[in-house]
Amino acid sequence: MALKAAGRGAIPPFHVMDVMLRAARRQRTHGDVLHLEVGQPSTAAPAKVIAAAQAALTGDVLGYTDAYGLMALRERISDHYAAEYGVTADPRRIAVTTGSSGAFVLSFLAAFEAGDRVACATPGYPAYRNILQALGVEAVIVETGPETNYQPTPALLDAVQGSLDGLIVASPSNPTGAMIGGEDLRTLADYCRGRGMRLISDEIYHGITYAAPAETALSHDETCIVVNSFSKYFSMTGWRLGWMVVPEDLPRSVECLAQNLFISPPTLSQLACMAAFDSRDELDANVARYAENRKLLLRELPKAGFDKLASADGAFYIYADVTGMTGDSRAFCGQILDQTGVAITPGVDFDPRRGNRFVRFSFSGSTEDMATAAGRLIDWRKS
Ligand SMILES: Cc1ncc(COP(=O)(O)O)c(C=O)c1O
Repeated sequence: MALKAAGRGAIPPFHVMDVMLRAARRQRTHGDVLHLEVGQPSTAAPAKVIAAAQAALTGDVLGYTDAYGLMALRERISDHYAAEYGVTADPRRIAVTTGSSGAFVLSFLAAFEAGDRVACATPGYPAYRNILQALGVEAVIVETGPETNYQPTPALLDAVQGSLDGLIVASPSNPTGAMIGGEDLRTLADYCRGRGMRLISDEIYHGITYAAPAETALSHDETCIVVNSFSKYFSMTGWRLGWMVVPEDLPRSVECLAQNLFISPPTLSQLACMAAFDSRDELDANVARYAENRKLLLRELPKAGFDKLASADGAFYIYADVTGMTGDSRAFCGQILDQTGVAITPGVDFDPRRGNRFVRFSFSGSTEDMATAAGRLIDWRKS
């Protein structure tokens, strides 16, 4: 007799993984792939973090920690809020998590009941809606476009049919790099609070901005959940460490969930990553390279026909509207890879309905790779 398989596990895949597989195949046959599809820094963790990890490997038992993580680390994160944003984040309400991904699972379980409805802007990071779906929470898609800088607004939320229990925002966002300015963030926070909606602010790309620095939702709302990570600015994706600032009404449930689901976040990474806060020069040099790459691509991509680009005010992505070039972004990215060796990501991951008309360029690699990729795309367009 066939065994039962749960429908809630049947969530959409990450299409970018297919691109990565195809890129690896191309690399084996042609050896010429330029990776503009990857969503992570191309650099290692800061040198001081690596040295701290080496010391911890031989000097520490590396057992479990508290479910919320090491207090010394939570105090460092709290200091970071004071120094960076001038806000108070009580270390007792900072939970260190297994990447921001772990924080999403904890947040959604602590804040929403099965059957609740949570607004997610598209284009957006697909895991929000896919994790919500796996937990039986309805992800209500709010389509955004260049008119609102690809960010949700009260008017767009008003237009949603039925009630909402929460809103997830990301500033800077993946895939557009679009940011929410301080006033707009306050307006969204007020909107949510006034309607009993829980605001979850994904701040994972903070530190990687090209004009104004990003604002934390914590400055505007004590009831929101702020999620962040060591993955992007701190250049530590594989160390699997993030954190969340837990609002006053949820610490105990988040703690019990964390104890039962994860026991504790990875200890070696916790011990090492404290040094990340003393590595600003190295990390800011990465951001300076991203800024150079961004400038180069914003100048060169239009020469290859990619001239409808999102603002890319932060993160390391450029989201391009390729309407008129294709109606099938997956096939289009495959064709570009086959003909140029440049790997880029189709928009279908980020926007289920309109994604076939969009692609994402990641500029987290070297400036030399960006220049070569742009040159190849311009030649391809001419051919
Ligand atoms: C917007 C956004 N949030 C969260 C994540 C998850 O990151 P991590 O679990 O490594 O912290 C990503 C990864 O690409 C992302 O782009």
